[in-house]
Amino acid sequence: MISKIREYLVEVEDFKTQSKSELEEFRIKYLGKKGILNDLFAKFKEVPVEQKKEFGQVINLLKNQVNEKIDDFRNALDSSDTHKQTDDFTKSGIVKELGSRHPISIVRNRICEIFSKIGFTVAEAPEIEDDWHNFTALNLPEYHPARDMQDTFFIEKGEKSSSEDVLLRTHTSSVQIRYMENNKPPMRILAPGRVFRNEAISSRSHCIFHQIEGLYIDKEVSFADLKQTLMYFTEELFGKSKIRLRPSYFPFTEPSAEVDVYWGLENEVDYRITKGTGWLEIMGCGMVDPNVLKNVGINPEEYSGYAFGMGIERIVMLLYQMGDIRMFFENDVRMLEQFKNEL
Ligand code: PHE
Repeated sequence: MISKIREYLVEVEDFKTQSKSELEEFRIKYLGKKGILNDLFAKFKEVPVEQKKEFGQVINLLKNQVNEKIDDFRNALDSSDTHKQTDDFTKSGIVKELGSRHPISIVRNRICEIFSKIGFTVAEAPEIEDDWHNFTALNLPEYHPARDMQDTFFIEKGEKSSSEDVLLRTHTSSVQIRYMENNKPPMRILAPGRVFRNEAISSRSHCIFHQIEGLYIDKEVSFADLKQTLMYFTEELFGKSKIRLRPSYFPFTEPSAEVDVYWGLENEVDYRITKGTGWLEIMGCGMVDPNVLKNVGINPEEYSGYAFGMGIERIVMLLYQMGDIRMFFENDVRMLEQFKNEL
């Protein structure tokens, strides 16, 4: 029997082929269910004990050689197949275009990072909101004229009263309410997200845009803390820390202010974007109105805080000197490509 196996070994050693079907025949002959190797393993039982060791070794040797042979020829035949398809080795490879982040994401991430250094964490809430979180809890009761400041897209109009309305959030201030309802002070959050307003489309406005909201609630938070935070922020983002706060009105903050950053008047572009004043408006802010705190179960005698909200598009347009807000939604690759090197 051993000598028969040695014959097989020679046969395997000499085996050569150019065709896949011959290779398959060879495989079946040795490794198939009724193949030579299975047959030999079956006979192994009958081998006398003193020969078992030698017999086992040659069978294993045969098996390994068969496997090696098959692997070698399979690789050789496979690679000759692919060579046939791409005979022209001078052809250039397939170039994979690398994408880039959208400028809105770039700036949003940068703003989140700036605030994360002073302890703000990111919070999120739904884009489809109810009346309470978008308006009423923010000190904007039904019939309040300030609701007109934000033209709203309604998903469902309540039958009895507007308190049952379901709508697309008009600002990220709704995230303040959701967060305060579910957490205890002190809290310090940043809420980036999409917001929706039913506005006429022009080069300066759009129905979907992005905001970032900030909220800080703790004991003895003052307007001075707000101002210091804003100066830190404008210095980090624009490299400019000269700001001014103009008195303004928001139902959910008291007092309220609009924040302008001093951009400068050094060249024609500065004149154009600041309309000749040197100042640029970048966000709204104020001390959280005590009524808002009461609405979410926080005692305004014990806690105070500030909030601010800014539109991301406007800031991107300032940072990258872009003139038309519609560019953000067209996804023209020629625009996006310019942001390839930015993270
Ligand atoms: N929600 C306001 C807006 O959309 C911005 C704002 C946020 C103002 C927080 C004050 C405080 O215009």
